[in-house]
Amino acid sequence: MDVIAWQRLAKPDERQAHCFDYRTSICIQGKTVELKQQGFAICYHGHVHVFRNACPHAGSPLDWNPGEFFSEDGRELVCHTHHARFDPASGECLAGPCPHGLEVLPFHDHGDYLEVPAAIR
Ligand code: FES
Repeated sequence: MDVIAWQRLAKPDERQAHCFDYRTSICIQGKTVELKQQGFAICYHGHVHVFRNACPHAGSPLDWNPGEFFSEDGRELVCHTHHARFDPASGECLAGPCPHGLEVLPFHDHGDYLEVPAAIR
Protein backbone atom coordinates (compact mmCIF):
# COMPACT_ATOMS: atom_id res chain seq x y z
CA MET A 1 0.00 0.00 0.00
CA ASP A 2 1.52 3.31 -1.12
CA VAL A 3 0.00 6.49 0.24
CA ILE A 4 0.44 9.12 -2.49
CA ALA A 5 -1.39 11.99 -0.74
CA TRP A 6 -2.19 12.77 2.89
CA GLN A 7 -4.86 14.92 4.54
CA ARG A 8 -5.35 16.39 7.99
CA LEU A 9 -7.97 14.99 10.35
CA ALA A 10 -8.92 16.21 13.81
CA LYS A 11 -7.85 13.75 16.48
CA PRO A 12 -10.89 11.94 17.96
CA ASP A 13 -11.58 11.95 21.69
CA GLU A 14 -11.53 8.71 23.68
CA ARG A 15 -13.97 6.13 22.20
CA GLN A 16 -15.00 8.55 19.49
CA ALA A 17 -14.45 8.24 15.74
CA HIS A 18 -13.80 10.60 12.86
CA CYS A 19 -14.49 9.48 9.30
CA PHE A 20 -12.69 10.59 6.15
CA ASP A 21 -12.79 9.83 2.44
CA TYR A 22 -9.82 8.74 0.36
CA ARG A 23 -9.20 7.55 -3.20
CA THR A 24 -7.77 4.31 -4.50
CA SER A 25 -7.34 3.20 -8.06
CA ILE A 26 -7.56 -0.16 -9.79
CA CYS A 27 -6.68 -1.23 -13.29
CA ILE A 28 -9.50 -2.81 -15.31
CA GLN A 29 -8.64 -4.01 -18.81
CA GLY A 30 -5.80 -1.51 -19.07
CA LYS A 31 -7.85 1.43 -17.79
CA THR A 32 -7.26 3.03 -14.42
CA VAL A 33 -10.47 3.50 -12.46
CA GLU A 34 -10.59 5.66 -9.33
CA LEU A 35 -12.64 4.46 -6.38
CA LYS A 36 -13.84 6.49 -3.42
CA GLN A 37 -13.25 4.77 -0.07
CA GLN A 38 -13.94 5.73 3.50
CA GLY A 39 -11.73 5.33 6.54
CA PHE A 40 -12.19 6.11 10.21
CA ALA A 41 -9.91 7.00 13.05
CA ILE A 42 -10.71 6.09 16.65
CA CYS A 43 -9.14 6.72 20.01
CA TYR A 44 -9.08 3.71 22.31
CA HIS A 45 -7.25 3.67 25.66
CA GLY A 46 -5.49 6.86 24.59
CA HIS A 47 -4.14 5.42 21.34
CA VAL A 48 -5.27 6.25 17.82
CA HIS A 49 -6.12 3.48 15.35
CA VAL A 50 -7.19 3.95 11.74
CA PHE A 51 -9.16 1.46 9.64
CA ARG A 52 -10.91 1.24 6.31
CA ASN A 53 -14.66 1.56 6.85
CA ALA A 54 -15.59 -1.67 5.08
CA CYS A 55 -16.64 -4.83 6.87
CA PRO A 56 -14.59 -7.86 5.74
CA HIS A 57 -17.80 -9.93 5.65
CA ALA A 58 -19.86 -8.16 2.99
CA GLY A 59 -18.01 -4.91 2.45
CA SER A 60 -20.61 -2.58 3.93
CA PRO A 61 -19.65 0.36 6.16
CA LEU A 62 -19.61 -0.58 9.83
CA ASP A 63 -21.57 2.46 11.02
CA TRP A 64 -25.25 2.85 10.21
CA ASN A 65 -25.29 6.12 12.10
CA PRO A 66 -22.29 8.04 10.78
CA GLY A 67 -19.41 7.95 13.22
CA GLU A 68 -20.97 5.37 15.57
CA PHE A 69 -18.61 2.39 15.66
CA PHE A 70 -18.31 1.38 19.31
CA SER A 71 -20.47 -1.17 21.15
CA GLU A 72 -22.57 0.17 24.02
CA ASP A 73 -19.93 -0.81 26.57
CA GLY A 74 -17.23 0.86 24.45
CA ARG A 75 -15.04 -2.27 24.35
CA GLU A 76 -15.54 -3.35 20.74
CA LEU A 77 -16.23 -2.01 17.27
CA VAL A 78 -19.47 -3.31 15.77
CA CYS A 79 -20.57 -3.82 12.19
CA HIS A 80 -24.23 -2.92 12.23
CA THR A 81 -25.12 -5.05 9.19
CA HIS A 82 -24.67 -8.53 10.72
CA HIS A 83 -23.21 -7.53 14.10
CA ALA A 84 -19.61 -8.72 13.72
CA ARG A 85 -17.39 -7.42 16.51
CA PHE A 86 -13.82 -6.21 16.24
CA ASP A 87 -10.97 -5.43 18.61
CA PRO A 88 -10.57 -1.61 18.57
CA ALA A 89 -6.81 -1.87 19.09
CA SER A 90 -6.04 -4.28 16.25
CA GLY A 91 -9.15 -4.59 14.07
CA GLU A 92 -9.12 -8.36 14.67
CA CYS A 93 -12.52 -10.02 14.25
CA LEU A 94 -13.70 -11.21 17.69
CA ALA A 95 -17.12 -12.57 16.71
CA GLY A 96 -19.30 -12.83 13.64
CA PRO A 97 -19.07 -14.05 10.06
CA CYS A 98 -15.91 -12.17 9.00
CA PRO A 99 -13.09 -14.13 7.34
CA HIS A 100 -10.49 -11.70 8.76
CA GLY A 101 -10.17 -8.42 10.60
CA LEU A 102 -10.49 -4.81 9.52
CA GLU A 103 -7.98 -3.33 7.09
CA VAL A 104 -5.54 -1.14 9.00
CA LEU A 105 -4.63 2.19 7.36
CA PRO A 106 -1.41 4.11 7.93
CA PHE A 107 -1.44 7.49 9.69
CA HIS A 108 0.81 10.03 11.39
CA ASP A 109 -0.01 11.40 14.82
CA HIS A 110 1.00 15.04 15.13
CA GLY A 111 -0.33 15.54 18.63
CA ASP A 112 -3.41 17.67 18.12
CA TYR A 113 -4.18 16.41 14.63
CA LEU A 114 -3.64 13.33 12.45
CA GLU A 115 -2.48 12.85 8.90
CA VAL A 116 -4.50 10.13 7.18
CA PRO A 117 -4.48 8.94 3.57
CA ALA A 118 -6.15 11.07 0.89
CA ALA A 119 -5.04 8.77 -1.92
CA ILE A 120 -3.62 5.25 -1.90
CA ARG A 121 -2.12 3.38 -4.82
S1 FES B 1 -21.34 -6.98 6.61
FE1 FES B 1 -20.44 -6.78 8.59
S2 FES B 1 -20.98 -8.60 9.60
FE2 FES B 1 -21.85 -8.81 7.64
